[in-house]
Amino acid sequence: MTGPVSFEATGEIAVITADSPPVNALGQAVRVGLMDAFQRAAGDAGIRAIVLTCAGRTFFAGADISEFDKPLTDPWLPDVVAYIESLDKPVVAALFGTALGGGLEVALACHYRVAVPGAKVGLPEVTLGILPGASGTQRMARLVGPKDALDVMISGKPVGAKEALAKGIIDQIVDGDLRAGAIAYARELLARGAGPRRISATTIDKAAWPATFFAEYRQSVAAQTRGYFAPERIIRCVEAAVNLPYAEGLEVERKLFEECKNSVHSKSMRHLFFAEREVGKVADVPRDTAKRPVAKVGIIGAGTMGGGIAMNFANAGVPVTLIEANQEGLDRGLGIVRKNYEGAVKKGRMSEADLAKRMGLLSTSLDYGALADADLVIEAVFENMALKKEVFTKLDATCKAGAILASNTSSLDVDAIAAATGRPEDVIGLHFFSPANVMVLLEIVRGAKTGKDVIATAMELAKGIRKVGVLVGNCFGFVGNRMFFPYVRESQRMLLEGMPAEYIDRIAYDWGMAMGPCAVMDLSGLDVFQKLFSEWRDKPDDPAFCRVLMALVEQGRLGQKTGAGIFRYDGRKAVPDPEVAALAASEAARLGVAPVNVSDEEIIERLFFSMINEGALILAEGIAQRPGDIDVVFANGYGFPRYRGGPMFYADTLGLQAVYAGICRYRDRYGDQYWTPAPLLEELARAGSSFAAWHAGR
Ligand code: 3HC
Ligand code: NAI
Repeated sequence: MTGPVSFEATGEIAVITADSPPVNALGQAVRVGLMDAFQRAAGDAGIRAIVLTCAGRTFFAGADISEFDKPLTDPWLPDVVAYIESLDKPVVAALFGTALGGGLEVALACHYRVAVPGAKVGLPEVTLGILPGASGTQRMARLVGPKDALDVMISGKPVGAKEALAKGIIDQIVDGDLRAGAIAYARELLARGAGPRRISATTIDKAAWPATFFAEYRQSVAAQTRGYFAPERIIRCVEAAVNLPYAEGLEVERKLFEECKNSVHSKSMRHLFFAEREVGKVADVPRDTAKRPVAKVGIIGAGTMGGGIAMNFANAGVPVTLIEANQEGLDRGLGIVRKNYEGAVKKGRMSEADLAKRMGLLSTSLDYGALADADLVIEAVFENMALKKEVFTKLDATCKAGAILASNTSSLDVDAIAAATGRPEDVIGLHFFSPANVMVLLEIVRGAKTGKDVIATAMELAKGIRKVGVLVGNCFGFVGNRMFFPYVRESQRMLLEGMPAEYIDRIAYDWGMAMGPCAVMDLSGLDVFQKLFSEWRDKPDDPAFCRVLMALVEQGRLGQKTGAGIFRYDGRKAVPDPEVAALAASEAARLGVAPVNVSDEEIIERLFFSMINEGALILAEGIAQRPGDIDVVFANGYGFPRYRGGPMFYADTLGLQAVYAGICRYRDRYGDQYWTPAPLLEELARAGSSFAAWHAGR
């Protein structure tokens, strides 16, 4: 047999093995191969039982996601799994690696399942905006009961072999050789006279799962699934599994699967799936570029960011030396790190032993000499160019040859910082996001002279500390903050125009943002924005620019940390403050800003079209490698809803003509200081094209 699926008879056991690198996705050729192999096993009188497994690094990792945008081709996965289950000879699935989505659905159609101890199983379809569409909703609900099935499908999180065994998803854990173990298991079944065992033939006790259970379940996941399309449909499928015969439940699943697959939500989330994998590729830095070893790290500044960054490395087992301006700074910084870890211990997320181990990896010093043998030093002092230059001059004098010298600056010119050293090829920006031990985004800022091996090392390092590393070019604010500033600017302008902060925030939140713009600024600290803008060489020449924010900083209202900013704070709860509305009104009167009746639609357009326009400039300048990279930045660092795919994909889903027309409308009202359409956007809109098509055509 040629193709990705092989058939081998071992006595009376047939071993069917799929081999389709890299992850054995169930593409059309695999499905054809599986049908052929199972038909052969069914028709071979010498075969009494079948083992299904895969070659390579994992059991089937799911349907082939790249086929979702193409017309369906026979045989469908639901037909393949139905055929496997219908066989009269017992079928044993032998699992290893990650049996996910369609992969687990294939395994559930097999009559028995064994797995190695390290295997993981899951139904992560929800993360792609879909639901298990090859009978997984119906079989899983029957196998483990509606509650556990819903938990697996709504969270999308895989479970380990031990838990899978406890829940009855698998029948046995095989220590040692999986293939041999699965064959032995099949022989044992034959010896016992155990025949096929079909989950589809079982039923769920309706009385045990009344409508109230589903109502309560919906309630319990409402916050976690806010705005998403697929979770509600997964719940409906499980309701069908409880209340309808198997065949009718399958029809419900099929219909709702198609609805999900065709939704903009799913297209957006699939886009992010591939964008997050493409983001690691750098056009002129091949994968096999030699990396520099990073076994010891130094961090300058143990403040908000320095402490969090240190935790990332300690969590990965890398020793870190923290340097501060004085002992008090070191004690404070280390104290906060310890408190964070203690919080994790209290919540049961970490053991006392782990805490001790991680704290043991952190050492402190007031002397730069302690960094002499560091492989990587990350500077995280105040956002001030003169100070950063001073620090890099010292690092240049102290650090060993070949050490990577990085800055955590959130906006400043990495080339100017590099110029303070005699080794600009070793200098790079590593822009972590706050809180640095939690947020997964890492912007890796490439300076004009940054060495390719330094870039390759930084990209690999991001993975090692479980971050999503995105390579960006050097400009004020890089990708994320540069595009975030217009969003901030428009929210601030709307305040001046008389729109209440809580209203702007509610519209942005309902649209899907994790937080509204005003709340997020209060959380970051209004002074942080004020300082950033003060370092901005090309700051807009506009007295109304972010005026409310600046006036609040002048009053010492810096946000959550001072109990008041754009909102007042009752603990961490934001409370609208009439004083801010009054301040906005008086500033507007002073600046001659007229009140505007801003519609909900306009709030969204101004917040996001301004951001998209900046994104188009960034793409044309080559600051981001791809539109998808920008989307990855916003989905991972700015609370942008995954179901909208990121700003550039969102623009494509709206159609660039609509975005362009909107920008022109605001230019007509406000002039061209902020609302000049980016030439790339204009060009693509006129051509009826999209950012995705533009990128694909390059
Ligand atoms: N379809 C198509 N391509 C896939 C794929 C899939 N299901 N899963 C992974 N790939 C590709 C990736 O795009 C990547 O391609 P590249 O090398 O060209 O960039 C390559 O395989 C390797 O993937 P990763 O870099 O993610 O490899 P890791 O080793 O880090 O992770 C994994 C492996 C855990 C399997 C991870 O790839 C993963 O989570 N995959 C998706 C799993 C999933 O969501 N399955 C459900 C699919 S939907 C479904 O089954 C519908 C069904 O119900 C009908
Ligand atoms: P911070 O004020 O909390 O910490 C800075 C620390 O640096 C202080 O503890 C200070 O004592 C120390 N320091 C100052 N001069 C020093 C010197 N010469 N030697 C040693 N230590 C010195 O500031 P934060 O927020 O941690 O910011 C640090 C950097 O990270 C800035 O460049 C900032 O722009 C950037 N950043 C900040 C983010 C945030 O949300 N706070 C997010 C991303 C980046």
